[in-house]
Amino acid sequence: MATVVELREKCVAEIDTYGRLGYFNDRPWLRRAFFAVPREDYTPTRVWVPKREEDGRYPVLDRREQPETWLRAVYSPRLALITQIADGAVRIEDGPTVSSVFTSSLSCPAVVVDMLHYLNPAPGERVLEIGTGAGYSAALTAERVGPGNLTTVEVQHELADLARASLQRAGYDIHVHAADGEQGWEAGAPYDRLISTAGVRQVPAAWLRQVKAGGLIITPIATPMNRDALMWLRPDGEGGARGALITDLSFMKLTSQREAGPWREYGWPRLPDYEVTVTPDGEQRIRTHG
Ligand SMILES: C[S@@+](CC[C@H](N)C(=O)[O-])C[C@H]1O[C@@H](n2cnc3c(N)ncnc32)[C@H](O)[C@@H]1O
Repeated sequence: MATVVELREKCVAEIDTYGRLGYFNDRPWLRRAFFAVPREDYTPTRVWVPKREEDGRYPVLDRREQPETWLRAVYSPRLALITQIADGAVRIEDGPTVSSVFTSSLSCPAVVVDMLHYLNPAPGERVLEIGTGAGYSAALTAERVGPGNLTTVEVQHELADLARASLQRAGYDIHVHAADGEQGWEAGAPYDRLISTAGVRQVPAAWLRQVKAGGLIITPIATPMNRDALMWLRPDGEGGARGALITDLSFMKLTSQREAGPWREYGWPRLPDYEVTVTPDGEQRIRTHG
């Protein structure tokens, strides 16, 4: 049976091959944090695996019944582990399920690392995380920013309680609040950086107010192209911001932004606004007009 250290090293080695330079590239603090935080300590004994079996149901992985498979899943770079379905209405005690209304998960290690790569906080900076989940990404962030500098907000009270307990057990001084993260967390503002592990359709105004001018917001944003995109934004201190999209991924949305409105309401170009050119040598380019 592979040891946890071996599985963690293998996971890091694989993430090192992703992207042009590997997601840990030039972020030695992140590599250290990944080795310092046991992901298994934040993973519930029972989780759903988001890959349907032949009968169409998502299987449950139980640490007590399949310890090695469970641990391999914990350190699978591209595998998210589902910890809540339909806001808790589907119970894990009832076993595999056909429901795909995932409402909380441990995001896959590669995505957690990629997002923190872009957040890249400095030691001592004040960070606000939206979407605590089980607390794993909070632990990695706290390894970097140090005691008392991370505030994390989780909308589901029972998840916030579990994460707070896990983080305290590990000795972290992190402010964990059960609240709607769309409002940020005013009492701890201003923040140097904000990371959301729940996607948005519209950037919440509270985030733009609570992050310092020239600070950084990293969040997934829904796109009309079927996938979400990771986005960075620099607030201007007056309630506005500028930024860009970084890469594609998929994320559950902020509870208050689950329902999609028309794309134009969120400022997206209409599909006819994209121009397509194909050159005789087969190069295809798609871009917005102008
Ligand atoms: C992908 S999971 C969290 C991943 C986690 N940070 C990790 O370490 O893997 C997204 C979380 O965002 C939470 N969430 C959704 N809407 C929220 C909101 N309005 N405010 C705060 N948390 C929210 C969900 O309950 C869920 O736990």
